[in-house]
Amino acid sequence: MGEVQLAPLNKPMTGVIHVPGDKSISHRSIMFGSIAKGTTRITNFLDGEDCLQTIRAFQALGVPIEKKDQSVTIEGSGINGLKESTTPLYFGNSGTTARLMVGLLAGLPFLSIVHGDPFLTNRPMDRVINPLREMGAQIDGRDHGHLLPLAIRGTQLSGIRYELPVKSAQVKSAVLLAGLRAEGTTTVIEKTQTRNHTENMLQAFGADITVDGDTITVTNQNTLQGTNIHVPGDISSAAFWLVAAAIVPNSNITLKHVGLNQTRTGIIDVLDKMDANITITNEQVSSGESAADMTVKQTALTGITIDGDIIPRLIDEIPIIALLATQADGKTIIKDAAELRVKETDRIEAVVDVLSTLGADITPTEDGMIVEGPTPLTGGRISAYNDHRIAMMGVVASLIATEPVYLDDDSSIAISYPDFFIDLKSLTN
Ligand code: S3P
Repeated sequence: MGEVQLAPLNKPMTGVIHVPGDKSISHRSIMFGSIAKGTTRITNFLDGEDCLQTIRAFQALGVPIEKKDQSVTIEGSGINGLKESTTPLYFGNSGTTARLMVGLLAGLPFLSIVHGDPFLTNRPMDRVINPLREMGAQIDGRDHGHLLPLAIRGTQLSGIRYELPVKSAQVKSAVLLAGLRAEGTTTVIEKTQTRNHTENMLQAFGADITVDGDTITVTNQNTLQGTNIHVPGDISSAAFWLVAAAIVPNSNITLKHVGLNQTRTGIIDVLDKMDANITITNEQVSSGESAADMTVKQTALTGITIDGDIIPRLIDEIPIIALLATQADGKTIIKDAAELRVKETDRIEAVVDVLSTLGADITPTEDGMIVEGPTPLTGGRISAYNDHRIAMMGVVASLIATEPVYLDDDSSIAISYPDFFIDLKSLTN
């Protein structure tokens, strides 16, 4: 922890790297491996702090999990093999761990106390608690059970038919996980598609799940079977380099085996629409998830409007897209993205603060931001807001700044990209 000084790059980015494993898929591989029967072997697991919290939580629930570097082996005894933890379950900064675990724990026959770091403790949990209570869950906690810490008295749940009021894969997944233990069937309807890794992985573990357009149904007639999962590279981590190479003059880089699930590829559509030069080759599919190599070369960019159904497909990439927009010709408007206000930090406020400190022309709105470009970026003192994606955006911005950038604290980067500075070095050598 501590301030870092970031010097302007003043040369092109070149080279070939593998980005770390996908965060959403890594979490789910531990969760489903832990409730399956038999052995699950995971490769290219994301060694980030958030996913380690998920491992620790299942170990506390009695599941044997061994991790060596990016390989994980789970000896699952099925969902009934989970045992009451003797200690509170700590989820750190991880919203995905918290929301999905609460869904699972609500239907297990024991008490769970769950808590997190000060940032997670302030993030809304009512979006999962409300449907779970409709299923019969007994959950109490701060602010009438709407904020961590929570006490979950596991009980017999009943299936529901639930139309998502927020475009959230975490809420969808929490209800589906609860549905694995609920009487009858549990159906989730999502009018706008959100990331579908839970559905893909339930299928890979042999669960009884049907996906019919926007309607997803599970039953409790499930014995998940352990399987092998290879986690593709995280497109949300790749996004920092895709944008870096699109804006650092004369760059040309390749990222190998990056996840290409179409519920996550909004950033590729945005780069295309802004006239970036991006080529996708060598597409492969494993465990229901596709991946490919991505090559980006720097070109002139054009401002665009980003709104509507694409937003959930790039929600985590908006900080780095805002930086991209500062270098595009004309106006970029981002709207329908009010969810940014309840991420690891208020990302509308954080992005606008960081980029305007560096000289960008950026204005916040209720549900997004407006960027006028292109503007040269200056140096300055910026805050990471204890948010990994704001910190990495600040580092990428420093590459094209005219003076040094001082970032208050880079430690949050370990949440999702522990080797970020190693990969930066390899692409800028
Ligand atoms: C995630 C879903 C998204 C995303 C988060 C990971 C997941 O959150 O922002 O980083 O793994 O399901 P919401 O479901 O709250 O949109």
